[in-house]
Amino acid sequence: MLRIALLAILNLSVASTSFSQSKPVIRMGATNTQSFDDNWAFTRYGLQADGSRIEEPQNLESTTLNESSWQKLNLPHDFGITGPFGIELEGGTGKLPWKGIGWYRKHFKIPAADAGKRIFVDFDGAMANAKIWLNGHYVGTWPYGYNSFRMDLTPYLLMGKENVLAVRLDTENWDSRWYPGAGIYRHVWLVKTNPVHVGHWGTSITTPEITDASAKVKMDITVENQSKLPVEATVQTAIFELDQQNKPETKITSFNTSTIKIDAGAAATTNTQATIQHPKRWDIVAPNRYIAQTTLSINGKVVDTYQTPFGIRTLKFTARDGFQLNGRRVEIQGTCNHHDLGALGAAINTSALRRQLSILKDMGCNALRTSHNPPSPELLELADQMGFLVWDEAFDCWKSGKRKLDYNKIYEEWHQKDLEAMVHRDRNHPSVFIWSIGNEVMEQRNVEMTKHLADIIRKVDPTRPVSNGYNDPDGGRESGAVEALDIMGVNYFFSQQAKWDADPRYKSKPTLGSETSSCVSSRGEYFFDNQYKNWQISSYDDAFPGWGCSPDEQFRTNAKYPHLLGEFVWTGFDYLGEPTPYNSDATNLQNFRNDPAKRKELELKLEELRKKNPPSRSSYFGIVDLAGFPKDRYYLYQSQWRPDCPMAHILPHWNWAERIGQVTPVHVYTSGDEAELFLNGKSLGRKTKTPGKDFRLVWDDVKYTPGELKVVCYKKGKTWATDIVKTTGKASKITLSANQPVIKAGGDDLSYITVKITDKNGLMVPRTHNSIKFSVQGPGEIVATDNGDATSFIPFQSHERPAYNGMALVIVKGKKGQKGKFSVKAESPGLGSAVISLESK
Ligand code: GAL
Repeated sequence: MLRIALLAILNLSVASTSFSQSKPVIRMGATNTQSFDDNWAFTRYGLQADGSRIEEPQNLESTTLNESSWQKLNLPHDFGITGPFGIELEGGTGKLPWKGIGWYRKHFKIPAADAGKRIFVDFDGAMANAKIWLNGHYVGTWPYGYNSFRMDLTPYLLMGKENVLAVRLDTENWDSRWYPGAGIYRHVWLVKTNPVHVGHWGTSITTPEITDASAKVKMDITVENQSKLPVEATVQTAIFELDQQNKPETKITSFNTSTIKIDAGAAATTNTQATIQHPKRWDIVAPNRYIAQTTLSINGKVVDTYQTPFGIRTLKFTARDGFQLNGRRVEIQGTCNHHDLGALGAAINTSALRRQLSILKDMGCNALRTSHNPPSPELLELADQMGFLVWDEAFDCWKSGKRKLDYNKIYEEWHQKDLEAMVHRDRNHPSVFIWSIGNEVMEQRNVEMTKHLADIIRKVDPTRPVSNGYNDPDGGRESGAVEALDIMGVNYFFSQQAKWDADPRYKSKPTLGSETSSCVSSRGEYFFDNQYKNWQISSYDDAFPGWGCSPDEQFRTNAKYPHLLGEFVWTGFDYLGEPTPYNSDATNLQNFRNDPAKRKELELKLEELRKKNPPSRSSYFGIVDLAGFPKDRYYLYQSQWRPDCPMAHILPHWNWAERIGQVTPVHVYTSGDEAELFLNGKSLGRKTKTPGKDFRLVWDDVKYTPGELKVVCYKKGKTWATDIVKTTGKASKITLSANQPVIKAGGDDLSYITVKITDKNGLMVPRTHNSIKFSVQGPGEIVATDNGDATSFIPFQSHERPAYNGMALVIVKGKKGQKGKFSVKAESPGLGSAVISLESK
């Protein structure tokens, strides 16, 4: 019975994995939390976008400062993404001018009626070295730009009068191996509470016993007393199921009521528990959730309310039998991703992130690694909503930096605070299944440090395993450092897996591919004599750096060692920066710390690259390009990760006028097990996959003739899926399609419009690069444009962009405060124009 029900759920998930409809985002925290994103003034000192310097004046936090010349803006804001790109800037960080000193100021009033309350500002993340002042008084600092933090404004706040909050950010004193962004690039919140209130991230919900009949739910609630007297508070928490709209539906049950005594200026924690009958599990195929609503009362009067969304699921990690979610074996089909949103830079936008995740979900991706830092809260909320598992990662380095001004500079003082902040914030998310203390850190053999960091996490959350991503797995194992971890994360180097499996010392450690493949390609490029040309990379999906491997090779490894937990591919999406193999950053030399010959070879390559200074500014690793268009590899992963979804994909395109009669290999990705290829109706033979060995079907000797390539795929002898690629006519028009034709008015819901250059029959014409101009009529506006070309220096804000291999992207939104229909026009000389109608509602 249960088996049938579960299968029904699983099938359903294959049939409908589109998440364009947007559920509201819910946050853990005090109910009285308001957005504090609007009406900030911004200016930049130190390094400027054009490379010049403007000396930073003193006292920019002063209440008397006149900031009328500053730029007015709403957050989130990334001051690096407006560029311009500069050839002299580092490719590793996107050739963007993100280094500078950013100042933000905001004037605001808190009604006199709020006198006596505590007033906090919560920053979800500010890059980097944030310092905060209120009314000229220094309030505090949080250097690590990826973490969320709270500032208590109460001591310096003027009730009923004007206040000025000033924030200084300094990215000059920050280094990165990828584009980090710059500025207050995540949301900011104003929180008002009673002096006696649930602490910041003050709730922890765990589910120690779960059966189909019931779940025991435990909750710890920390209450802070910022008043001048001791108090006795009553804590009550009701549990609701969250409905399809993320609203508390019916009340399920309540936690035991508890009474707690808290001294003045102190905090105390109460533990309570409840039982949920017939719990609805959170799962990647049915992401059910609950919400705990906590009420704090003193002498019968409610003083504070707080909400904690959570989920009920079991996680089991085994060394011999992989990973189990809710008792079911689940292969981790994950992708690593950096935090930028392509053309939007690092500024968080929920609708952009939701699009990224739904593209990954449709591919069959079921897990995300937040490489190599804590993510935005929205990423975890969307992972909870959409059913992704999350490897939540703290650091890319510890005490010893990969770059000069890395986290190493602040490690000593901040590592504990940063780790605790990450775990306190994220521990109630059902999606978070593994904590990671690092990625390829220099000290990965250091037993003491590994244990120290893992223990900091375990103290806050003893329920989830702790891991670390090793590019020196042998060193990690031999040194014993891995013994301090619950899971061994291996980046790339699986050649020794058989040796580790045979070694009794390592037999009990569950092992995961924390980073795999690193295949590189450029969408729509196919080269026949060389994989690399014009700073682009051929899309036959067989190019990768020396430490990486093809996706197929990794699938072979996974099939050979089925007891491994699965993999996180480097990467799901292309990202800004790190344009390997055209990246001259030396950090990847560390991947060859145990192989001097390969290290030398790479060193020489890097030296050459430095001389040539390639124009590449974003990565080629993505399975999906920077604009969100799937590359061929997308279908290779889909064929493996969604075996029940009938699909077939042919590459390359079939427009090779200059190759008539020349051998032009054809590859097919399919979830079937056999396929027959036809060129202009003539069979080129039937090929079969050998299980565990072949993951694509290859016709290596096809001679190019224009016309139609068709593949018919079979599964277990039955017709399963087909794909057709045709030689197109000449480029003659533009077609437009929107991922969301109707968007929410208010300013941050986005519609992504895919632009294709087609022939008169509507077939996309590959290898076209016509320039397209965009304009909007009505209450909408263009946010950014892109085309996925990793070498383009056209600013993302430009309203004109060439197609890259037949495609371009324009991102639009509704104008703030306005509703109604608007239209987007795309025009190009010789192709006429196309118009698409959208609505902001
Ligand atoms: C890994 C590293 C990643 C990225 C990747 C590129 O060694 O952890 O951050 O640099 O290589 O292949």
